[in-house]
Amino acid sequence: MDAIECIMTRRSCRSFKPDMPTDEEINVVLEAARYAPSGMSRQTWHFVVVRNVGWLDRMNERVFSIVNAQSKESNLDRNGSKGYSCNYHSPVFIIVSADPQYGTSEDDCACALENMFLAAHAIGLGACWINQLGKGNCELLRDLLTEAGVPETDKVYGCCALGYPSAPPSPRKPRSDSVIYFD
Ligand SMILES: Cc1cc2nc3c(=O)[nH]c(=O)nc-3n(C[C@H](O)[C@H](O)[C@H](O)COP(=O)(O)O)c2cc1C
Repeated sequence: MDAIECIMTRRSCRSFKPDMPTDEEINVVLEAARYAPSGMSRQTWHFVVVRNVGWLDRMNERVFSIVNAQSKESNLDRNGSKGYSCNYHSPVFIIVSADPQYGTSEDDCACALENMFLAAHAIGLGACWINQLGKGNCELLRDLLTEAGVPETDKVYGCCALGYPSAPPSPRKPRSDSVIYFD
């Protein structure tokens, strides 16, 4: 598949097989992340690859209570409160973080995440941006993040749920008319 086809056919995956992708496949995704553009090529990001089921369970328990307390209009009904998994039970969960002292940290992490989604799609894996560990939630999860290896000074800017897709995605929303030409 060429780059344009990969961009046009990538979708967020929210349903994963329990099978673990190979180390080689995970590495393709991580290399794509490491080759993303970053402001002044600072590359201050970190990619923590979590395959620890116990940690994922504890993280989801914590996220569930945080999100539940924050909003009645949360997206918890996507999975129901029983067996809640913000990462849709993906076997791999990659935390993307960087030091917020640099002005482009958030942008750099977004570039890395998109590269990861495209690389995953190119090799037949499914992936989805997971936002629940970022922004204000980051400090409420700090002990768990530290345990997983996220540097203390980093903020989480996004995460990548990764695995083999187990179901086709829902139909894509039509693209909005967002292009403006000024000749
Ligand atoms: C900044 C950002 C945050 C997102 N957070 C989540 C999330 O927490 N959970 C989720 O299931 N999808 C999340 N998504 C995925 C979007 O819902 C998805 O990209 C959008 O619905 C378009 O679908 P597509 O990716 O299949 O084209 C996020 C996407 C972005 C760019």
